[in-house]
Amino acid sequence: MPNIAFLGAGIMGQAMIRNLLKAGFPVTVFNRTMEKARALEPFGAKVAASPRAAAVGADVVMSMLIDDAACRTCWLGPQGVFDARPNAILIECSTASHDWIGELATRAAKSGLRFLDCPVAGRPDVAVAGQLNMFVGGDAATLQAVRPVLAAFTKSIVHFGPVGSGIAFKLIYNVLGAIQVASLAEAMFAAEAAGLDLRAAAAGFSAGATASPHVIRHAKYMSLGRHEDPVQFSGRNRIKDIRYGVEFSEQAGAQSVIGRAAAEVFGQMIPLGMGDLNDSELIDALRVAHGRPAAAKT
Ligand SMILES: NC(=O)c1ccc[n+]([C@@H]2O[C@H](COP(=O)([O-])OP(=O)(O)OC[C@H]3O[C@@H](n4cnc5c(N)ncnc54)[C@H](OP(=O)(O)O)[C@@H]3O)[C@@H](O)[C@H]2O)c1
Repeated sequence: MPNIAFLGAGIMGQAMIRNLLKAGFPVTVFNRTMEKARALEPFGAKVAASPRAAAVGADVVMSMLIDDAACRTCWLGPQGVFDARPNAILIECSTASHDWIGELATRAAKSGLRFLDCPVAGRPDVAVAGQLNMFVGGDAATLQAVRPVLAAFTKSIVHFGPVGSGIAFKLIYNVLGAIQVASLAEAMFAAEAAGLDLRAAAAGFSAGATASPHVIRHAKYMSLGRHEDPVQFSGRNRIKDIRYGVEFSEQAGAQSVIGRAAAEVFGQMIPLGMGDLNDSELIDALRVAHGRPAAAKT
């Protein structure tokens, strides 16, 4: 069994690590907030005090961190993975920018290391069930070598092509998803403003041609005024994803007019101090922004 170093025991990382342990892989975990890594010790994880310490002796180093800044710190910073002079296959699962993936891949190549970008789709409950969908960029032989590791927490693995193509698809995918949640919040708020019953509206959007897993899931939370606890994916993270996705689409020579609009809609959460709430709580921000009380949590 290859030794795995895993950086990032956030809500997604916790679930992925537990599935790796369940599948029998030895995993050494680094997390900035040590308690979250220590919570994995009873399941068999070893805890490292730095990314460097985690990477020493690892066969595979993978990360599931929030954004470019976190990734850069953990891979390239002092006490970062490269400080350990690793001799491992490197895997970036974080939803980071396309530029970051390019930078990390270049750094890996300079060190003669194999690298894959392997972002995933699926909420934390899907991660707990080991049913994530993964989008891979990198060479086929490297993917083949780590497929058993990735299989521990995925339902499907789609190989898009060379390094950078996994994150390219993930960013485009996420913008589409964010647009759905933002436009649902506006539609639900419009229904409420028009005096319609929100539960009936949620049922209507969830039954008709408008229904998508995003609409079905979030319409329920928005209509009941009961959102996920603890927060599963925040408004701030939606904005991060859209920003990376819009930047990438535009760099690629496409456009993202609706993506930019979705970022603006989620952006209404920030000045109201609601950025760290669930993405579905966007409807409350819209209410407040239009002079109405945020719905009472029931
Ligand atoms: N949640 C979802 O539904 C979902 C689904 C698919 C993909 N993703 C992606 O998965 C990744 C992780 O998301 P998550 O939901 O697990 O978020 P999370 O629970 O907030 O975890 C974020 C992780 O990043 C670490 N981190 C943040 N800033 C850091 C820094 N400056 N230096 C070092 N570490 C830092 C956190 O450490 P601390 O614990 O110390 O804060 C934590 O380990 C993100 O790229 C996200 O977009 C999320």
